Amino acid sequence: MKAIVFENLEKGFCFREDVKRQSARPDEIEVQVSSAALNKRDDFVIKGLYPGLVEKVIMGSDASGIWKGRAVLINPGINWGDSQEVQSRDYQILGMPSHGTFAEWVKVPQQNVYPAPDHLDKHEAAALPLAGLTAYRALFSRGKLQSGQKVLISGGGGGVAMTCIQMALAVGAEVYATTGSLEKQEKLIDLGVKSAVDYGKEDWDKTLQKSFGNFDLVIDSAGGDGLKKLIGLVKPAGNLVLYGGTKGKSDGISPQIIFWRQLNIMGTSMGSDRDFREMLELVTKHKIRPVIDSVFPLDDFQSALDRLRSPHHFGKVVLQVAE
Ligand SMILES: NC(=O)c1ccc[n+]([C@@H]2O[C@H](COP(=O)([O-])OP(=O)(O)OC[C@H]3O[C@@H](n4cnc5c(N)ncnc54)[C@H](OP(=O)(O)O)[C@@H]3O)[C@@H](O)[C@H]2O)c1
Repeated sequence: MKAIVFENLEKGFCFREDVKRQSARPDEIEVQVSSAALNKRDDFVIKGLYPGLVEKVIMGSDASGIWKGRAVLINPGINWGDSQEVQSRDYQILGMPSHGTFAEWVKVPQQNVYPAPDHLDKHEAAALPLAGLTAYRALFSRGKLQSGQKVLISGGGGGVAMTCIQMALAVGAEVYATTGSLEKQEKLIDLGVKSAVDYGKEDWDKTLQKSFGNFDLVIDSAGGDGLKKLIGLVKPAGNLVLYGGTKGKSDGISPQIIFWRQLNIMGTSMGSDRDFREMLELVTKHKIRPVIDSVFPLDDFQSALDRLRSPHHFGKVVLQVAE
């Protein structure tokens, strides 16, 4: 079958047409992939920035597909375990170290396969799982977001961040964002955010604070220099939830602000099977549709990756696998 394979750190990935289909264990099923979606994780794998890399593994965490004639999508989190608090030691994300979704067929535990919500087409269904799961847990299971609360989402043009924005709007929160360009600020306002500021401008935090005050909940995946400013924007006793660290380590964080304001600073990663089911319920109830930036054929993975890496992408980059 055709697949995108992580070769090794020197060569990166390659498109191959001769990859053998894996035989499924009794608890697994084989899904015929319709569409697959890229995540920042795929970029990190190719750049060698992801832990535990295994050579010759089919990449990709997200897919929609067909199983027994039904449109399905896949929860990429395998073996979360029984606790809602934290994943088990056996937890894995599809696409590294196990074979993933950038292929014509993918084998997964049957419990990870769900009917796709009827209102989504195959590209939207592929774009949902990883971003939807991460966003849902960050906002609700960890961030305890309530209708009417004020939430700030950093880097609103990203795949997970934009899903956070859509979900927060759906439950009636007042949503604000930071983003990297004027063009994206305008697009985020069209999506429904009340205000969006450019995180590249020097005093973006002060601009936001002056007009809108502080926030009940702040969601971030960048870390780096911006994190201290985001901490300063949380209301007393408010929550800040981090799901990524794209910009690396953060200097200058003030312990005084954290303890005096009684802030809750939390990490989150992917989500439990329950989070995934609740995420699908929310998306179905509110007819949320992932924003698709662009679609590329599987054999043009390089262009899809270039688009993911470009600062201009807005929403999810998708691979069309089947016609
Ligand atoms: N722990 C987990 O479960 C989990 C799951 C998914 C993703 N992640 C992590 O979350 C991060 C985003 O992933 P993704 O798949 O959503 O990636 P993505 O679609 O490529 O989005 C990345 C976004 O980062 C934003 N960004 C860049 N520089 C920034 C800055 N200085 N301050 C704030 N935002 C900035 C950009 O926002 P604009 O477009 O608005 O400029 C960009 O769109 C990655 O680090 C990824 O590894 C973690």
